[in-house]
Amino acid sequence: MPIDPTLTRYGAPLRALHWLTVLSIIVVFGITYVEQFFPRGSPERGWIWWTHISVGLLVLALVAIRIPARVFGATPPASTALSRPVKIASEAAHGLLYLLLIVTPIVGIYLSFLRGNEVSFFSLFTIPSPIAVDRTAARQVQEVHELLANALVILALLHAAAAVIHHVVLKDDVLKRMLPER
Ligand code: HEM
Ligand code: HEM
Repeated sequence: MPIDPTLTRYGAPLRALHWLTVLSIIVVFGITYVEQFFPRGSPERGWIWWTHISVGLLVLALVAIRIPARVFGATPPASTALSRPVKIASEAAHGLLYLLLIVTPIVGIYLSFLRGNEVSFFSLFTIPSPIAVDRTAARQVQEVHELLANALVILALLHAAAAVIHHVVLKDDVLKRMLPER
């Protein structure tokens, strides 16, 4: 991860990947709450899970592009506004966010397969379940998937709150590092 001291913000590709991921998480997480408004077995529920799975796979695809882009591309040095403990905490939070962005969709895929369901990416391609149906294991894996998703969203909210506090209260450059140039 080469640090370029002339940079004051993340490059356009990393910024685009960050905000596309944020949008995708809002859709994937938010849509699970819409399900209750439609009766069991209705086409709307089918559409909701088709969207959940497709956009969930998109999250995984975005992180698969983002990690090499982050590792091999130039990034700005850490903001001078951050003290050493805050810098360590923010890097730990970012690492955990990356981990949850990878593990949560993978557990989702495993859940679908345990239920015997195929996994479709916007109907562009479909992967049938390669494993035997196991409803008992599926119930446990569903709990894990939900737990990971909740952890991801809570951590992302804390992370977003920290970014907003930096911008509004501390009035430093932290949020600007992820925003387009004026
Ligand atoms: C970061 C991406 C993802 C997030 C944040 C997420 C989040 C969630 C949440 C909050 C639930 C509701 C849990 C419950 O009611 O038990 C859920 C359920 C589920 N998710 Fe995900 N998910 C993601 C990706 C995926 C992917 C990629 C797949 C499959 C390929 C998937 C498959 C499922 C399935 C099958 C359910 C259970 C649906 C049901 O209750 O019938 N998820 N997910
Ligand atoms: C689902 C929601 C979110 C996820 C998963 C997420 C994830 C991440 C990750 C993994 C990084 C580290 C980037 C890197 O160094 O490679 C990052 C950086 C950043 N994020 Fe987010 N983020 C989310 C929402 C937000 C929101 C809503 C804001 C603003 C209000 C925000 C502001 C920032 C800023 C300013 C940085 C750069 C911090 C720095 O290095 O100085 N993020 N985000």
